[in-house]
Amino acid sequence: MNSKIIEEINNLKKKKNAVILAHCYQNIEIDEVADFVGDSLYLSQMAAKTEADIIIFAGVYFMAQTAKILNPSKKVILPNKNAGCDMADMINLNQLREFKSKHPDIPVVCYINSTAEVKSECDICCTSSNAVEIVKSLNAPEVLFIPDKNLGRWVEKELGNVKVVTYDGCCPIHNDFKIKDLLATKREYPAATVLAHPECREEFLSGADFVGSTTGIMNYVKNSSKKEFIIATEKGVTERLKRDYPHKQFHSICNKPVVCPSMKLNSLEDIYNSLKNETTEIEVNKEISDKAKKCINRMLEVSKKCPTKA
Ligand code: 13P
Ligand code: SF4
Repeated sequence: MNSKIIEEINNLKKKKNAVILAHCYQNIEIDEVADFVGDSLYLSQMAAKTEADIIIFAGVYFMAQTAKILNPSKKVILPNKNAGCDMADMINLNQLREFKSKHPDIPVVCYINSTAEVKSECDICCTSSNAVEIVKSLNAPEVLFIPDKNLGRWVEKELGNVKVVTYDGCCPIHNDFKIKDLLATKREYPAATVLAHPECREEFLSGADFVGSTTGIMNYVKNSSKKEFIIATEKGVTERLKRDYPHKQFHSICNKPVVCPSMKLNSLEDIYNSLKNETTEIEVNKEISDKAKKCINRMLEVSKKCPTKA
């Protein structure tokens, strides 16, 4: 049933010299047409260096916006314009300015899950896979970290010698994982290794064996001789792991897969229509884009020098 639309997308891709980038929370059938599948860092690196004329970003708004900022001469398209990120919406420019004014003269690290306006007034960007290296690279005793308080807390704990002042934002999906549910799942699968995303609460992460980005989690499984895992992140990761490692076992917390509704908005039909009609195109005001680009490029430079282990 999907094979016809997949063929049509692949034909259009060739005809229009387009590339499709897909985040690993996307509906899994999108992998059939994607050129690159991965986490936010990997996809922004691919967006920055692609020579395609059109970038179809199967992800959420801030990801497509970041791609446009990094490669402004390309046409960047988000297949479903309603695909936002609840965490990115938790801080706007006024809220950022107020936060900064309460803590003056401290470098500001912003998680990539934020708007271009917010990035334009921060010092350096980070993703879940490089947040520790990015904060460390500043050599500062104290940093402000926006918008994810959980990722900020985790970085502070990992580094041990930097005070991380966090903004009160979070991912409603990961913030909802509860330690009591993790303990119950561990009791059910005592041999399983727990892999969790750093957007989860500190208390929850204390029960994990490994904390990492979506790609970090997938790479952990790839490189591990272990056979059974509890996966604490969105179900797109668990589904891909089940597909790629059929001889290993993967469990969700309390056996309930968790969904990011925005990430699931893009369908194969949306991708086909977006390629055909070249909508919805992402535009970013030049002044904002130039400033935000400095913040993102600073991150990419650090990441080049200290690539993440996962
Ligand atoms: P990753 O960079 O780990 O893919 O995370 C993006 C995200 O939105 C997680 O909720
Ligand atoms: Fe945003 Fe959370 Fe969805 Fe990731 S899982 S895109 S942080 S709402």
